Amino acid sequence: MRTKLIAGNWKMHGSKPFIESLMKGMTEQLDASLESDVLVCPPTIYIPFVESLIGDHKIALGGQNLSEQAQGAYTGEVSGDMLKDNGCQYVIVGHSERRSLYGEMDVLVAHKVGKAIESELTPILCVGETLEQREKGTTMQVVQQQLDAVIDALGIDALQQVVVAYEPVWAIGTGVTASPEQAQEVHSAIRAHLRDKNAQIAEEIKILYGGSMKAANAEELLAQPDIDGGLIGGASLKADEFIAICKIAG
Ligand code: G3P
Repeated sequence: MRTKLIAGNWKMHGSKPFIESLMKGMTEQLDASLESDVLVCPPTIYIPFVESLIGDHKIALGGQNLSEQAQGAYTGEVSGDMLKDNGCQYVIVGHSERRSLYGEMDVLVAHKVGKAIESELTPILCVGETLEQREKGTTMQVVQQQLDAVIDALGIDALQQVVVAYEPVWAIGTGVTASPEQAQEVHSAIRAHLRDKNAQIAEEIKILYGGSMKAANAEELLAQPDIDGGLIGGASLKADEFIAICKIAG
């Protein structure tokens, strides 16, 4: 049985007063009996601050990106080891905004997944199609290509340590959520694609949904057999909303 994971991707939002208030709201409402794993991914500069606010609450910490290098003269970069050194257990890799705005290609994303694993972080590998790709009927071709870039580079066994997040680009930040049926169809196809390579990994890997998940639609989405949690953007910046989603996950 796969434990659900509800992850908040704060993107480039926050300030110390805002984060203090958000974390206070979350820790006051978070039910310690929840079986689901709860994760927050702040902007890198605030990771130590958020770590100090988490204390002994059952909230994991993650980065939003990492360097494909381990260390060295790479101005502005942050390594997986540095994230780990500051309390991170996860790191988002290959988010569509990294791919579209910062030119991260599949092979670079695959290399970053490898670096995350080397740093003993769990990479959350983001995959997903644009509206144009969906309308052309190439959704699974795109998603499989993104997955296979990692498998080709690292081998299928590496996915034992990976979480996949299916984020249809057309649903990110738009308020247009994939229907439960649309999401389940892609999640099931991802699991089937992996099953062809390793049945146990396919069964055990967590596949999160991301793209305008809110408390209002979380129940239907999280009830789908191949949706193992959410990667939440906007709704993770509101303590009540994010905790409500965590409670729906159970
Ligand atoms: O990484 C999660 C994010 O891309 C989804 O954003 O605001 O649509 O929940 P949002």
